[in-house]
Amino acid sequence: MKTIQLDISNIFPFIEKEKIFNNKEIISQHIQAIENRTSLGNEFLGWNNLPSSINSEDIEDIKNTSDKLRKLANNIIVIGIGGSYLGAKSVIDALAPYFDNNDNKTNILYAGHNISEDYLSELLSYIENKSFALVVISKSGTTTEPALAFRLLRNKLEEKYGKEESKNRIIAITDAEKGALQTLAHKKGYKTFVIPDNIGGRFSVLTPVGLLPIALAGYDISKIISGALKIEKNTNSKINFENNIAAIYASARYELYKSGKKIEILANFEPKLKYFAEWWKQLFGESEGKDGKGIFPSNVNFTTDLHSLGQYIQEGERNLFETVLSLETPNNTINIPSDNDNLDKLNYLAGKRINEVNKMAETGTRLAHIDGGVPNIKINIHEISEYSIGQLIYFFEKACAISGYLINVNPFNQPGVEEYKKNMFALLKKPGFEKESEEILKKL
Ligand code: PA5
Repeated sequence: MKTIQLDISNIFPFIEKEKIFNNKEIISQHIQAIENRTSLGNEFLGWNNLPSSINSEDIEDIKNTSDKLRKLANNIIVIGIGGSYLGAKSVIDALAPYFDNNDNKTNILYAGHNISEDYLSELLSYIENKSFALVVISKSGTTTEPALAFRLLRNKLEEKYGKEESKNRIIAITDAEKGALQTLAHKKGYKTFVIPDNIGGRFSVLTPVGLLPIALAGYDISKIISGALKIEKNTNSKINFENNIAAIYASARYELYKSGKKIEILANFEPKLKYFAEWWKQLFGESEGKDGKGIFPSNVNFTTDLHSLGQYIQEGERNLFETVLSLETPNNTINIPSDNDNLDKLNYLAGKRINEVNKMAETGTRLAHIDGGVPNIKINIHEISEYSIGQLIYFFEKACAISGYLINVNPFNQPGVEEYKKNMFALLKKPGFEKESEEILKKL
């Protein structure tokens, strides 16, 4: 099984090579501090050795719970937002077929990631005559979006199956001791999984937060962990900077940022990776974007977006760099047929695989963007599988932590997220927010 590879050679037209290697010492200190748990935000470093410390009983518990729930319900609604939803969705979307004819498959649906009345109402109608179960995920146990969705869906479930049977159809993933969800789950007697204290939401995909929904969708979580473990080993403090892909990627991003490249675009040429970019955006955006600093993480799905944002990337503001998730081997093969009339003028492609055309689009795009002034980083993935996705997850987590330290921010907090909540609670007149209510109403 192949390991993901990093190619930063196409940033060198823009950044001197030695600058990347000059960060070697400081990055080595950051990796050491992560391992010794002495770095900033050290109470949230549990993700660092998660792949090597996951215990086989916990994995078995997740797999058994998944098997039981899959037998009970064809539709499982995963309720959560941010780190309590994006990891699972990104992995499931990457692994799932585009079109699935299997009527017996377990359908994973999502809720609690928005406050759309139409979304919730249409979801309630959709499951009306279907068998369903709920997995509710919230580390704090107090987040409004999932709490609201859970209240509605729990009512629906209890209406359909009765209170007793509903208990078997609800799994809660939350803090061990605190939060409204923990209290509720405990009181009602739901099966629970714990999100460890030392792992923040956006770093939690390799805990039950991501692993249970992924297992419910029918994928092999042990292979995901093996992939992550491979990169945990390949990026630890014993590995030379020259061989440490997380260190090199973080160093490259940092130097590009200092040179004025403030926006990183994660590009794919395989739309199954669309949601992976959503997870990546949360990981880097919430970890780095603070104290007036940080690269703005953005994404594109090519070749689709070459017919929209491609123009901007080629010729707009030169404050961008691009990181391409480059997939070597698709899971399927299609050869382009020849046509006697050749009215569409495509016979020059006859006999080639569709992937060959996609690959040339990728190479052509990378070269065009580099010529247009956009530095390019390439991450090579052999195939889309549980193993490779597990590698990507750990690679980005490690690189993200190092990146945060390089710009001197705490990568594990998200104080900015509280601001909208404070205003929303003040506007909704939540008990305890009386003073804020008075203040905000003056602004309207
Ligand atoms: O990364 C984070 O910590 C956040 O994005 C959270 O995951 C998100 O706000 C959801 O929080 P919770 O799991 O407490 O409901």
